[in-house]
Amino acid sequence: MTTLLNRRQWLQAAGATVAAAALASPARLLAQTPAAAPRRSLVASGLVRLNYNENPFGPAASAKAAMAQAANERAFRYADAEERELLELIARREGCRPEQIVLGAGSGEILDVAGFHFGLERGEIVAAHPSYMALLNAADRVGGRAVRVPLNARFEHDLPAMAAAVTPRTSLIYLVNPNNPTGTVCDAAELKRFVREQAERTTVFIDEAYLELTDDFAGRTCAPLAVEGRNVVVARTFSKIFGLAGMRLGYAVMPEKLAVTLRARMTGSLSIVTIAAAIASLQDAAYVAATRAKIQAGREALVAAVKALGRECAVPHGNFVFFRTGMPAPEFIARMRAEGVEVGRPFPPLLDWARISIGLPEEMAACHRALRRVLG
Ligand SMILES: Cc1ncc(COP(=O)(O)O)c(C=O)c1O
Repeated sequence: MTTLLNRRQWLQAAGATVAAAALASPARLLAQTPAAAPRRSLVASGLVRLNYNENPFGPAASAKAAMAQAANERAFRYADAEERELLELIARREGCRPEQIVLGAGSGEILDVAGFHFGLERGEIVAAHPSYMALLNAADRVGGRAVRVPLNARFEHDLPAMAAAVTPRTSLIYLVNPNNPTGTVCDAAELKRFVREQAERTTVFIDEAYLELTDDFAGRTCAPLAVEGRNVVVARTFSKIFGLAGMRLGYAVMPEKLAVTLRARMTGSLSIVTIAAAIASLQDAAYVAATRAKIQAGREALVAAVKALGRECAVPHGNFVFFRTGMPAPEFIARMRAEGVEVGRPFPPLLDWARISIGLPEEMAACHRALRRVLG
């Protein structure tokens, strides 16, 4: 399995450094943190940050008001009743029972727990390459093995090749739809057929972190297959469409029995402020539609700019664009940084490609200027 650290592991590594030097000043800590991979909260780089696929439009006004109210009035309470309310709201959204939902501090926590669970006893996890690494990295930490299946020529999951990679040792198939870093989606009918068939053989996990940003959320989601009780897990996050990455909340829908197992492995509990934000967000359809339209407009403009510069581009459906720069990723990253724009890390094996997240209009204007200088 790859030894690349993902962002969470970087942060954990940095966190360990911080804990060991708890009495040091932030400036000293930064100086001591190796390889200039500081905790982002300590950095005031002044750069345009288009490297983490965040939603720069931020939370809905209704979510901000709910957070302020929860912080002012209920911060001293444990969130039991609020968590129940959130679970019921999510269950209504998904058309399932609350018992089929697992909440996590970001979908990242659920990916970690799933990685630990399915990676145990040398479990083999079939996944696309390149794709999002958190679940595979977690599995790796408990001795699991990743079976990486290259994307097809359109940079989409190669579903026939993934089906062929499943063996009796496979404990999980992990799909990311839309995929990160490529932004591509699977054909909806082909994907659902694949999930139905493979769920008879093993557990199928679909990470739908960016699905609300696509043209057809309802037509593309695999959650109904999980709701029906098939051996399917669908994970969602409040970090992307709802603009709540810093508040840390995600959830997954799955058969009740698996939910009991995974829930038993969770170690944290949720903030009452975060839950208030989520409850407000889920009821704010106007915010979701407006944010999706703004991100789609930024995405289309970036694709047009990249193509105008003669660069090949994967078809994006999330809040980021993946394209071939024609130069080694570290060089492109350094040259964009010199122009004031941070872009995504290298994504092996596509080492002359780059991922750029959609930012605010003024951030995108800076990005377009930088691209013309670096690639023009
Ligand atoms: C595909 C995918 N899944 C899950 C996550 C984790 O998001 P969070 O932990 O903020 O919910 C990310 C974050 O970028 C992602 O790209």
